[in-house]
Amino acid sequence: MAHSIEKIAVIGAGTMGSGIAQVAAVAGFQVQLFDLNPEVLKKGMTGIQKNLLKAVELGKLSAENAEATLARIAPADDLRQLVCDVVIEAIIEKTEAKQNVFQSLAQINPPTTIFASNTSSIPITRIARGIPHPERVVGMHFFNPAHLMKLVEVISGEATSAEVAQTVAELSTQMGKTPVMAADAPGFIVNRVARHFYLESLKCLEERVADFATIDALMENSGFKMGPFKLQDLIGMDINFSVTSSMFDSFHGESRFRPSRLQEMKVEGGFLGKKTGKGWYSYE
Ligand SMILES: NC(=O)c1ccc[n+]([C@@H]2O[C@H](COP(=O)([O-])OP(=O)(O)OC[C@H]3O[C@@H](n4cnc5c(N)ncnc54)[C@H](O)[C@@H]3O)[C@@H](O)[C@H]2O)c1
Repeated sequence: MAHSIEKIAVIGAGTMGSGIAQVAAVAGFQVQLFDLNPEVLKKGMTGIQKNLLKAVELGKLSAENAEATLARIAPADDLRQLVCDVVIEAIIEKTEAKQNVFQSLAQINPPTTIFASNTSSIPITRIARGIPHPERVVGMHFFNPAHLMKLVEVISGEATSAEVAQTVAELSTQMGKTPVMAADAPGFIVNRVARHFYLESLKCLEERVADFATIDALMENSGFKMGPFKLQDLIGMDINFSVTSSMFDSFHGESRFRPSRLQEMKVEGGFLGKKTGKGWYSYE
């Protein structure tokens, strides 16, 4: 690897951040995990512990290895103490919030620290704007659940150096993932194609073609691993809606990416899916 990597800071310990911290620690890196919300951080650490215990039960990891992996993850309560070789940001899907995290970390980290964003849809070029040494800002897009899904899209923005993209691709491989280089186009590759899986199913629901459970059952019976509504609950309704909104914006209002009012109402009501106990389905 062009950069020597030992310490990784993962920012955001929600659905994606905790899984990313886990795979980084399994791969032998020292990990610091931070979230603005201490409850989420606690929940994230418990989730990682559960996943590791399950891996031991399945014979995929020895008990000693699981213990050592967990010991490599340090929950952090102050962003201003995170000095590392690579930052992987997995916070809310909002440009300004992501830029603020990188701006703060740029003040205490050397210019060689790589700033990777797990954004699903925000252009890397936009996130990197105004960040000192923007050549180190790159997309590192994991898929949900991050500890199981193999694909990682590595996205180069206008300023990203080829060396940084290559280092992140090699890092993904070290984490047991399969990196794919993607251009900085709205939604990159997977989210652009998959957007219509969610949007068209939401339109079917709006037009009363079928109810959501029937649509899920039909899609699963036709070969999809999860129906579109179950998937929205797994991803998080707020994240799925923000990604659609960001893509609609990036495609200058093209109607095929118009966000769904039905989904927006779920977000407004706090029915975010598995993470809040209720979305399209109930998990209480
Ligand atoms: N959910 C998915 O399926 C999925 C898949 C791939 C990529 N992503 C992307 O990953 C990112 C995170 O998504 P998620 O589903 O894990 O969201 P999430 O809502 O589960 O978790 C986000 C966490 O970030 C924390 N946070 C918000 N602002 C913060 C800040 N300034 N500093 C530190 N922590 C902060 C929140 O407290 C929350 O716990 C988003 O950019 C999303 O687009 C999500």
